[in-house]
Amino acid sequence: MKHDIVEKNIGLMIVFIMLTISGGFLAEVLPLFFLKEVNEPIEGLEPLSALELEGRDIYIREGCHVCHTQQIRPFRAETERYGHYSVAGEFVYDRPFLWGSKRTGPDLARVGGRYSDAWQRQHLYNPRSVVPESNMPAFPWLFEDYVNHQGTAAKLSAMKTLGVPYTEDQIASAADDVDGKFEIEALVAYLQQLGTVISDRR
Ligand code: HEC
Repeated sequence: MKHDIVEKNIGLMIVFIMLTISGGFLAEVLPLFFLKEVNEPIEGLEPLSALELEGRDIYIREGCHVCHTQQIRPFRAETERYGHYSVAGEFVYDRPFLWGSKRTGPDLARVGGRYSDAWQRQHLYNPRSVVPESNMPAFPWLFEDYVNHQGTAAKLSAMKTLGVPYTEDQIASAADDVDGKFEIEALVAYLQQLGTVISDRR
């Protein structure tokens, strides 16, 4: 049988496996690079402000993405709870992506505007004070530490290199925009804009 030839020849087997995988890549992944819906920002999408971008870095530093996803799948159970499902065009300025894969806590893709700033601050200071059964950790140090503004301009320029349309003015004023702000202000600013470009909240 011809099949035996492949099964007994590991070199040939590897070649066929690679052909199969690259065929899958060509069919599934390659077209995405050329699809407009996947590459272009949705209408109204703006790059994060300097403060929000710093907030995003704090979100990553504190590991929020380890317990929280930022992707609402197109299933009824998800859209009923979290709002409109996530679309690719919302994430074109997002680097690295924070879609996540584990939901210890709720999805945060559209948490922007769901609670007041005061609630967000209280919750981050001590989750149990607003959600008694919560097992989310508290982040009290965010209320004591200032945002480090020294790298902010460089972060915006790096994002610009990656294709995020920051203007020279935004980069020039980036450090001043975050100077003297507490980390909690940056984080809450970041949370409050999450997913707000698409809104169909019921
Ligand atoms: C160990 C896992 C864990 C980590 C880490 C974590 N959370 Fe949570 N988070 C939870 C759980 C569980 C809940 C649900 C209970 C509650 O509301 O406190 C939650 C709830 C929330 C909510 C309310 C969401 C809603 O729709 O009601 C927000 C906002 C939130 N977390 C933000 C954050 C931020 C920002 C960070 C990082 C600074 C963070 N979380 C880190 C587990 C976590």
